[in-house]
Amino acid sequence: MANASWVFTPTVPHFNKPMISPLISTFRSRVYPHDRILKRVLCSSAVHGADKVSVSELKASRVVGKGCKLVGCGSAVPKLEVSNDDLSKIVDTSDEWISVRTGIRNRRVITGKDKMTGLAVEAAQKALEMAEVDADDVDLLLLCTSTPDDLFGSAPQIQAALGCKGNPLAFDITAACSGFVLGLVSASCYIRGGGFKNVLVIGADALSRYVDWTDRGTCILFGDAAGAVLVQACESEDDGVFGFDLHSDGEGYRHLHTGIKANEEFGTNGSVVDFPPKRSSYSSIQMNGKEVFRFACRVVPQSIEIALENAGLTRSSIDWLLLHQANQRILDAVATRLEIPADRVISNLANYGNTSAASIPLALDEAVRSGKVKPGQTIATSGFGAGLTWGSAIIRWN
Ligand code: ACO
Repeated sequence: MANASWVFTPTVPHFNKPMISPLISTFRSRVYPHDRILKRVLCSSAVHGADKVSVSELKASRVVGKGCKLVGCGSAVPKLEVSNDDLSKIVDTSDEWISVRTGIRNRRVITGKDKMTGLAVEAAQKALEMAEVDADDVDLLLLCTSTPDDLFGSAPQIQAALGCKGNPLAFDITAACSGFVLGLVSASCYIRGGGFKNVLVIGADALSRYVDWTDRGTCILFGDAAGAVLVQACESEDDGVFGFDLHSDGEGYRHLHTGIKANEEFGTNGSVVDFPPKRSSYSSIQMNGKEVFRFACRVVPQSIEIALENAGLTRSSIDWLLLHQANQRILDAVATRLEIPADRVISNLANYGNTSAASIPLALDEAVRSGKVKPGQTIATSGFGAGLTWGSAIIRWN
């Protein structure tokens, strides 16, 4: 007998056995062909008979047939522009070294009372405007950030600032530079499996607050920004999230982290040793650049290949390669491995540096608004970074 859980099977992603090492967790999805989904929906109705199906089962059948698509995007950057020459005044570096090794020439940095949430709100408003969706109609807001303005999470503040009435669910996702891809995939799962209709996915970070501005090995890389995408439920034939592939490897944590500082002082007035603890703070960004570089060049092409396979597509279907904007040499190496020509690689890191979870939606927004990315085109996108985490999704713009 058909039941709701059986009906849900095709669209709810499943956990597979670890593929690369037992320490690496893997989250993969196969997006099923529409005809198979339709068959199962009809099968469910046929077994019960329309008059005998409960309201909840009818709802489940409708959810299974749903797709999701990207209908709006927006972005925001701080006003202060910091060039490589500006940086050469505070650390021993040069425009030539930075641009040759990374492709970066400028970055934007938050100043004064400006906050990450301010950028996130601006980006989200632009995405809603493009999507022609009212803030009141947002029923889920996912803020992908590793630098929240509040340790308890900043998504609800953004929800309030946008004026979303009806108290939609809003929460943070922390996965550094992979955050946006995880948010996008999460949005598709909430829509397909949870019946949500309008999901705002925001990638926003202000890593400048955690950079050691005396460390030339890291401070040259990062910038602050926010980008947002509105993902909307649609009919299955309009589906725009074709397949994905997500991973994490905690063993690689040591290569890139901003850990909590060990308590340097402890209370002395209690009988319990090391109690009460002092207030905590975080270290500046600690990175083994060479290892992160190798990791990205190794895992990103593999992950995109798996996401393509899960989508039932091949490399030739890709109109645009949209990677986390970490380093032009990483973008070039991945494109070469996938045999994707340079003119199909989206890159704007020369102007903004590595903006962590914001980099993919920021680059997407610029490419859409400039007319580069057109409706109906297929994009292979991939995020990678601290955790270590990495993931890819094959999507269609609008
Ligand atoms: N200016 C001038 N010289 C420098 C600078 C600088 N800014 N930084 C390092 N150097 C020097 C080093 O001291 C070293 O000198 P030495 O040979 O005398 O010892 C030399 O340049 C080479 O240094 P490397 O670190 O080996 O340089 P590399 O070619 O690896 O480039 C870089 C460094 C750009 C950081 C590169 O490794 C990289 O981009 N890695 C990936 C980093 C990344 O993407 N991180 C973000 C992930 S996203 C996230 O989750 C936050």
